Amino acid sequence: MKFDTVIKNGTVLTATDTYAADVGIAGGVISAIAAALPAESAGKLIDATGCYVMPGGIDVHTHLDMPFGGTTSADDFESGTIAAAFGGTTTLIDFAIQYKGQTLRTAFDTWMKKADGKAATDYAFHCIITDLPDARLEEMGALVKDGVTSFKLFMAYPGVFMLDDASIFKAMSQASRHGGLICMHAENGGAIDVIVQRALAEGKKAPKYHALTRPTTAEAEATGRAIALAEMAGAPVYIVHLSCNDALEKVREARDRGLPAYAETCPQYLFLSLENFDTPGGFDGAKYVFTPPLREKWHQEKLWQGLAKDDLQMVSTDHCPFCFKEQKELGKDDFTKIPNGGPGIEHRLSLVYSGGVHGGRFSPNRFVQIVSTAPAKLFGLYPRKGAVAVGSDADLVVFDPRKEEIISAKTHHMRVDYSMFEGIRVTGAPRAVLSRGRAVVANNQFVGRAGAGQFLRRNTYSGLS
Ligand code: URP
Ligand code: ZN
Ligand code: ZN
Repeated sequence: MKFDTVIKNGTVLTATDTYAADVGIAGGVISAIAAALPAESAGKLIDATGCYVMPGGIDVHTHLDMPFGGTTSADDFESGTIAAAFGGTTTLIDFAIQYKGQTLRTAFDTWMKKADGKAATDYAFHCIITDLPDARLEEMGALVKDGVTSFKLFMAYPGVFMLDDASIFKAMSQASRHGGLICMHAENGGAIDVIVQRALAEGKKAPKYHALTRPTTAEAEATGRAIALAEMAGAPVYIVHLSCNDALEKVREARDRGLPAYAETCPQYLFLSLENFDTPGGFDGAKYVFTPPLREKWHQEKLWQGLAKDDLQMVSTDHCPFCFKEQKELGKDDFTKIPNGGPGIEHRLSLVYSGGVHGGRFSPNRFVQIVSTAPAKLFGLYPRKGAVAVGSDADLVVFDPRKEEIISAKTHHMRVDYSMFEGIRVTGAPRAVLSRGRAVVANNQFVGRAGAGQFLRRNTYSGLS
C-alpha cells in the first residue's frame, strides 16, 4: 500500500485508547493504523518519537471577523484559523449572526463569504438568532438541512442580542423537532443592566466593574432557567462559556436527573480570576473584559473538577479578540464601552493539557475527549473529525507532552496586541499539525494555505455517546 504521508514512532492517543502505532494517510484520510508501516510506503515521513498522535482539536466557540461593541474582532478567518492551527486546533465552529429583521439565511450567507477563500482549516457555523418571528422559526429547519445544526441564543445583552423566554422556548421546541441543538449564553441580562446603571451612576467606570456588576447568581439563575425551558420543550441544551461554580451546580443537578444538558468552560475561567484586574493604572484590566466575567479564584478548581467528572463536557475558547490599542481603549472612560471578548484560540490545547494532565487532574484520554472528541460528537462531526480511525479525516496533531512554552503576545500568531495568558508556562504543545492530510504547521512555521479550509455540513444532534 502507498501512503501520501506516514506518521511513524508515535503513540496514538484517542479519547479511549493509548497505544504505539504508525498512522498512514492517503487522499486526506487516515487509511491505515498499524504497529509498523514501512517507511518506503510513504511519500512523506513524519517522525513522532516521544509524541502523541491525536485528533485535531475542535473549538466550537469562536468569533472571527465579528462586528461587536462598535468595532470588529481582530482575527479574520485567515489569521484566526492559522493561529488555531499553531495551537493544534484544526476545526472551528464560528457564529453566523442574524441581526434584527434579517433572515437566518442572510446570516449564514454573510459568514460563508467571510470564511470563503480565507480559512486555512475546516470550519462550520452555529447561527445566532436575535429576532424570532414565526417566519424565522420556520427557517430553522432549512438551516439544519444545510448543516447548521446548532443555534446560539442570548439571555443577556438586552436590546442587542437578548431573547425573551417565550422566544427561547419556541426556538428550543423547533430546534429539537429538526434535530438541532440550542447553545445558550446564560446570564440574567435584565438584572445585570440595572446593576450596571447603578454602578455608572456611582461613578464606577473602571474595567473591573464589568466583572463586579455581573454576579455569579445572574449566571446561575439563567443557567437554571435555560435548563428548565429545555426540559419543558423536551430539548437538549448546551450552556456556553460557563464561568462559575454556581452555574456548574445547575448543570450537574440537571445531568444527575438524566437531562440532556451539556456545558463548556473556557481557559480564561480555568486560569484567570478577579485578581487580574489588580493592575497598575486600572485600565489594563480591559484586557480581561469579556462575558461572563472573571470570577473569584476558588471557582477555578471547581471548574477543573467539573471537567474531570464530566459535569462539564468540553473546553472551547470563546475567542473574540480586540486589540488593547484603539479597540479596548474605546472604553477608557466607561467600562460599558469596552468591546467584550478576549483572544484564546491558539493556546487551548496547551493550557488544558498543562493544567489538566500535567496538573494531575485527568488522564491524557480525557484531555482528547474534552478538546476534540466530545465537540465532534455533540456537534455532529464525528467520526469524520475527533477520531484517529481508518476513514476519518487526517486532521492530526503530533503533540509533545514534554514541550515547554511561555505564552506571550511576542510569539503568538493571533492578530492581537496582548495575551490574556502572558507569562504562563505550559507543558505540552504541538510539534506538527495536519489538516486533511496536508501539513499546516511544521517546525514552528505555517506551511498550509489560506483558503484550503472547507465548510463542514454537520449532522443533527445525537447526544454524546
Ligand atoms: O465577551 C464575550 N464573550 N464576547 C463574545 C460574545 C459572547 O457572548 O460569546
Ligand atoms: Zn456568549
Ligand atoms: Zn462567544
